[in-house]
Amino acid sequence: MKVSVVGVGYVGLVAAACLAEGGNHVTCVDKDEDKMDDLVHGKIPIYEPGLAELVKRNVEAGRLVFTTDLSEAVLNSLIIVLGVGTPSAPDGSADISAVLAVAEQIAELMDGYRIVVTKSTVPVGTHQKVCDLMAAKTDHPFDYVSNPEFLKEGSAVDDFMKPDRVIIGTTKPAVMEIMKQLYSPFMRKSSRLLFMDPASAELAKYAANAMLATRISFMNELSQLCEACDADIEMVRKGMGTDSRIGDAFLFAGLGYGGSCFPKDVRALAHLGDEQGIDLTIAKAVQAANVKQQRRFARKVIDYFGDHAQQTRLAVWGLAFKAKTDDVRESAALTCIELFLDAGIQVKAFDPEAMGSTRAVLGDRIELGDDAYSILAGCDALVVMTDWQEFRSPDFDLLKEKLNKPLIFDGRNLYDMKYLAKQGIDYHCIGRPHSSLAVCGDST
Ligand SMILES: NC(=O)c1ccc[n+]([C@@H]2O[C@H](COP(=O)([O-])OP(=O)(O)OC[C@H]3O[C@@H](n4cnc5c(N)ncnc54)[C@H](O)[C@@H]3O)[C@@H](O)[C@H]2O)c1
Repeated sequence: MKVSVVGVGYVGLVAAACLAEGGNHVTCVDKDEDKMDDLVHGKIPIYEPGLAELVKRNVEAGRLVFTTDLSEAVLNSLIIVLGVGTPSAPDGSADISAVLAVAEQIAELMDGYRIVVTKSTVPVGTHQKVCDLMAAKTDHPFDYVSNPEFLKEGSAVDDFMKPDRVIIGTTKPAVMEIMKQLYSPFMRKSSRLLFMDPASAELAKYAANAMLATRISFMNELSQLCEACDADIEMVRKGMGTDSRIGDAFLFAGLGYGGSCFPKDVRALAHLGDEQGIDLTIAKAVQAANVKQQRRFARKVIDYFGDHAQQTRLAVWGLAFKAKTDDVRESAALTCIELFLDAGIQVKAFDPEAMGSTRAVLGDRIELGDDAYSILAGCDALVVMTDWQEFRSPDFDLLKEKLNKPLIFDGRNLYDMKYLAKQGIDYHCIGRPHSSLAVCGDST
């Protein structure tokens, strides 16, 4: 099929490359000329495992092309997929202006029947707004599908190729058939297509993200209680997660969630409730608990140094909002770093992939090092912010040698408390008894 993808970011580029891999001819359009220039010259603007190879293969096969010219895309495709951003507006609602602007342009450019498929996360009712806007601009027939995307950064290619489910928000049987065909390469074993009305499809996306964020915030609140009661959140997590009614996903306590989706989507859901006169108290509490958890972790570090904060230098491992991505949008690491800087603490940091994106946000307010160990020299503590695989089993001897004192604050609970206590490392993590208590209770 001939498909266009408008908005070539984390979602759009992955969707385009995967749809091309499925045999479609895909035209990618973005208004960012530098990004498209990079792509035309074989440079992938984001880090996403497996994506570079996939893009290269499909460009070479002639199935994937890049342009900034929307008309070229609209005139040459039946299906136009929207993957443009829907960031938070100042009032917490989702800013859908890019979706509406592109839909309007498509309507003006199209020369016959088209299907507009929205992958961007958009509030309930957007389908109607887009259809009204397009109908006012064109006499050509069109259909609209709400097709929210559920891929996760860090495993986006796999998620797209082997989705848990694909939600198709349309009530028209003929459009369902075309969407079935579009997704057939990814449904070889069994169909995981879920057909529903567009409003339910739009809400399902927000509901899923809000539920995941709720689990995280619940565990983070419990972690605070664990610290107060000398209980261990890791044991509590196992005790809960092994219950088949609960399951073990998204139960890790940490320094709070971040990223380009959970914070903005929970905010937008709460706002949507307010617009409808329904106070979504859980969504609001989830956000408040998350802000509290991020601040609590930063405060724990700052308070440790007390009056010496201004003479303190910290080494930070991890800047991305999670492992396997270079995305630092609303990263809890950056939020905590801002709080450290406000307290007068100096920061040296390293991340395997997110150095460029961090530099774009923080400029030279922090020092960025070449590798995880070189930044430790002269620092008073290590603060672990992102759960990259390479941070999970570090060389603790080298770490002790380089740091001014053997002190770790771990926002991801990556290490074995008892082992670190034996190594003489003062280890502070989330919702677990302090390392000295762990040694007392250790009978081995
Ligand atoms: N990132 C994720 O993990 C993820 C997962 C599921 C859903 N989503 C949703 O998908 C959407 C896109 O997210 P993303 O992370 O890929 O965003 P992104 O910022 O990485 O990409 C958006 C792209 O759209 C382009 N764009 C904006 N306005 C445009 C216009 N008028 N014409 C052409 N291009 C335009 C931007 O230049 C950018 O390249 C959002 O609604 C997001 O909530 C994201």
